[in-house]
Amino acid sequence: MVTVFGLGFVGLTTALGFAHLGYQVYGVDVDEARKATLRGGEIPFLEPHMKDVLQKHLGRNFSITDNVKEAVADSEYIFYCVGTPYGNEGSADLTFLFSAIDATIKAVEESNTADKRRVLVTKSTIPPSTTAEKILPYVRAKGGAAEHIGVANNPEFLREGHCWEDFIGADRIVLGCNDDVSAQMLKELYRPMEIPVYVVSHSTGEFIKYLSNTLLATMISYANEMAAVADAIGGIDVADAFHILHMDKRWNGCDMTSYVYPGCGYGGYCLPKDTAALLAQSAAKGFEPQILKNVIRTNRERPGVIAERIAASVPQGGTVGILGLSFKPESDDVRDTPAYKIIRALLDKGCQKIVAYDPAAMEEFARRYPELDIDYAADRREVCERSDVVAVVTAWKEFADVPSLGDQPVFDCRYMFSKLEKD
Ligand SMILES: NC(=O)c1ccc[n+]([C@@H]2O[C@H](COP(=O)([O-])OP(=O)(O)OC[C@H]3O[C@@H](n4cnc5c(N)ncnc54)[C@H](O)[C@@H]3O)[C@@H](O)[C@H]2O)c1
Repeated sequence: MVTVFGLGFVGLTTALGFAHLGYQVYGVDVDEARKATLRGGEIPFLEPHMKDVLQKHLGRNFSITDNVKEAVADSEYIFYCVGTPYGNEGSADLTFLFSAIDATIKAVEESNTADKRRVLVTKSTIPPSTTAEKILPYVRAKGGAAEHIGVANNPEFLREGHCWEDFIGADRIVLGCNDDVSAQMLKELYRPMEIPVYVVSHSTGEFIKYLSNTLLATMISYANEMAAVADAIGGIDVADAFHILHMDKRWNGCDMTSYVYPGCGYGGYCLPKDTAALLAQSAAKGFEPQILKNVIRTNRERPGVIAERIAASVPQGGTVGILGLSFKPESDDVRDTPAYKIIRALLDKGCQKIVAYDPAAMEEFARRYPELDIDYAADRREVCERSDVVAVVTAWKEFADVPSLGDQPVFDCRYMFSKLEKD
């Protein structure tokens, strides 16, 4: 049996993934509204396939419980999929993680099941050395004996918008685990997936996740810096240049090209905080990585550069139309979204009239950023009608016709209107 703490993108996918593999799964969350939505068979965010899978397993082998004692007492596997947001000076905030670990230890004590062999698995992204230096000593100090409680990490590589297919069709499973019994238990758990499982040290497991996210962030900042170089030199069609770069057979088919492409900078929940956390962790251990530092700097500056260009073309007292608010298309996630930073910068530069539209993220954006005094439109046409200048900030497919919806200037902040043709 499996208990999953945290029912967000990663936790809900993990819980349903294990239910799909035939396990009995308990889901635990502290967000009452989220639990109510899930108990009603609905998904609290935009994520394909998940509603069908939820409705298939809910009340059968997946239950959302408030009875942590019963869930932990029954479970051999406890997964932590809670948030690890920005903490002090870019480091990862582990408060939610330790609170879930506390709840687990309390449930073990109260249910008198300390003799049962369990493995506590962190799926949340945590900086290298956290398991070895913080979690393991914490669990042992709280009385979790090595013969009964194993501690491991199991980084998750899924992408929002593709959660289900990425979990079920994962390339490999990484287990940061330093005891054989826990490693065997986890291998057994994942056996039905029939994919390679790699057991590595605690810190290697954690590091692999940051290696992945910081490389993606680096590619994005590289592409944005190259777009700025091209603009400085002039006479260069940036979108064409990148599309032709992607035609090299070393890139073809590898599904990485969207990262090696300029835009508004990386956003969302993971890349910004994880890049900052690895920089902070490495600096705390005595080495300040210069590439990462500049990746972050390029990313921080990008929305301001874009806002500057837009502001320069708006007539006095004119209206700016913003198309796209989510951090990427096919998502309603607005955490750390470049749209916020661009709008903030425009308001700061004196562009007071802004009208925005997003096919999925408008409500969430207005809820999360109530301090922004902007208008929201019913669709992209209304934005075009009401604006003197339009900026496409998220590359939703439905914005493809925007250049034909009026004669106002359109800022293609995502370079999505390439007219590249083969001869
Ligand atoms: N979103 C992604 O694409 C992605 C991909 C890979 C890894 N990750 C990592 O996975 C972790 C979770 O990310 P997410 O996007 O699923 O976050 P999320 O914010 O969508 O979900 C986290 C959930 O944890 C719950 N929670 C907080 N404290 C809790 C507690 N003590 N007990 C039970 N539930 C609690 C919250 O209420 C929330 O529902 C983070 O560390 C993130 O970096 C995220």
